[in-house]
Amino acid sequence: MSETSKIIAVTSGKGGTGKSTVCSGLGYTLAKQGHRTLIIELDFGLRCLDIMFGLQDKIEHDLSDVLSGKMSALDACSKVPMASNLEILCAPKTLTPVTAEQIYDICSSVKKYYDYIIIDTGAGINSHVFDIVEQANLILVVSTPDQVCIRDASLMSDEFYNRGNKRQRLIINKVSKKVIGNSLVKNLDEIIDKVGVQLIGVIPEDFKLTVATAKGDPIPTESEALLAFDAISKRLGGDFVPLTMKGA
Ligand SMILES: Nc1ncnc2c1ncn2[C@@H]1O[C@H](COP(=O)(O)OP(=O)(O)OP(=O)(O)O)[C@@H](O)[C@H]1O
Ligand SMILES: [Mg+2]
Repeated sequence: MSETSKIIAVTSGKGGTGKSTVCSGLGYTLAKQGHRTLIIELDFGLRCLDIMFGLQDKIEHDLSDVLSGKMSALDACSKVPMASNLEILCAPKTLTPVTAEQIYDICSSVKKYYDYIIIDTGAGINSHVFDIVEQANLILVVSTPDQVCIRDASLMSDEFYNRGNKRQRLIINKVSKKVIGNSLVKNLDEIIDKVGVQLIGVIPEDFKLTVATAKGDPIPTESEALLAFDAISKRLGGDFVPLTMKGA
């Protein structure tokens, strides 16, 4: 592992909170900031990173090739033309059995080549996710402002704490200015208190993302959400970037 190499697991209790979007946004902005970045997608059978980076039908290899021993993890990674420092290791298109040890071995074999490895864990409170997340240097818990999401994020985070994992930060995604209104800080404070995890960033609800998903287009690089991801990426590196609704 290089001195600066960091393994970041992106997770949530409830599905659909925006984990894959967060992985893409952070991966893209970290790479644009000059960090060698790999995103590993563990959503087996539900691949989406290829579409998010405009690589639909262009992925030649994925995790199944690594798990079957056909090739090394490094060889199975795909370069992302949108950002020269970014690579992705896509999930298999079908359900393929995998253990936390195998993911650990994959991360160990490639981590010296990257500054950041971002793991899209997929959704759910299950032991599989907990075991995989154990290896991460940092866990990013993604929640939206809705009450079910907040409760599930809190349950997830409590379980990490119970297992001794205190390296957690919260991302609040899909924050709508209309819902949060003028009292941004007070409302965000309530969410942070309920989840019980220190905030690292807020991503606005961004219509450009909704449109891109609907059309199967890559993530929009000129958007408010990407500004927010850029801010979070800088915070990951230790920079102080103030929280605002525009750049979140
Ligand atoms: N900030 C945002 N603004 C608008 N739409 C968003 C935002 N973040 C995510 N979305 C949309 O929400 C939907 C779910 O996002 P995504 O696939 O990233 O969630 P997920 O947590 O990875 O889901 P799953 O649990 O199924 O893996 C997508 O349509 C995505 O475009
Ligand atoms: Mg996903």
